[in-house]
Amino acid sequence: MAGKVVSITSVKGGVGKTTLLLNLAGIYCTLNKRVLIIDFDLYSGGVATLLDVKNKKDIYMMIDSMGNNRFTELKDYVTVYNKNIDVLASPKDPRDASKVDSKFIPIIFDVAKKEYDVILVDTSHILDEINLTILDYSYMSLFVITNDLVDLKNMRSLMSIFKDTNKNNYLTVLNNSRDTGKDYLSLYDIRNITGVNIDYTISKNYYIKNVDKFVMDGEILTLNKKVNTFHQRDVDIMQKMALDLIDDRHSKEER
Ligand SMILES: Nc1ncnc2c1ncn2[C@@H]1O[C@H](COP(=O)(O)OP(=O)(O)O)[C@@H](O)[C@H]1O
Ligand SMILES: [Mg+2]
Repeated sequence: MAGKVVSITSVKGGVGKTTLLLNLAGIYCTLNKRVLIIDFDLYSGGVATLLDVKNKKDIYMMIDSMGNNRFTELKDYVTVYNKNIDVLASPKDPRDASKVDSKFIPIIFDVAKKEYDVILVDTSHILDEINLTILDYSYMSLFVITNDLVDLKNMRSLMSIFKDTNKNNYLTVLNNSRDTGKDYLSLYDIRNITGVNIDYTISKNYYIKNVDKFVMDGEILTLNKKVNTFHQRDVDIMQKMALDLIDDRHSKEER
């Protein structure tokens, strides 16, 4: 098996990355793909909490073992969510976050690609060595942006870096389900400010009022029939996104 690494990132925090990542995981699950979620939001990762899995191991423990030649199998470090989805959690002890060396990222990805169809990587919004390395070794990256001027301006700077470095294996999504009041900039304005096309838009209808109830139950929204029926249009968009992100047409850029 040669799995694909898909990273979800942004230039601003709280834009809905983790929520979208979990929704994509749910969609891949219904497509019967084996999914590993790696929580590289090292300082404030919340995937294990949101999925209500009690992880004994985390990403730092795995890297520590690798550095000391004690690493044998990935399954010793992942936590099972359901029959298709496993989680490699962010450090349980936040003091371990700064000890994660980016040189292990490609090694972790290579190990994961042998066992999973899709490796979904959650990130923080800080463009540090960790995130740059993740972007570098991703099959595809998904940029989440909001209808927010500062966010869009920062996105423009990042996009010009990408143009300089010829990075083109990314897609963009405008998430209107977070700040439902803020849709004063049109898609046309957004394209002008960021200098990129918006590939997908999640509508403000996808604002889930009782999202905390799902969190308490460790439930993934896209695995809930009622939510899917009620929000079919946005779910269809996420389904398209999920398929596009792992489409073989991007394989030229695969590393
Ligand atoms: N579609 C949505 N409906 C309601 N609340 C949402 C939605 N998407 C995100 N949120 C809430 O917004 C906050 C930030 O979302 P999150 O996915 O954690 O963003 P990020 O990972 O970019 O920091 C969380 O409290 C989350 O529950
Ligand atoms: Mg997050």
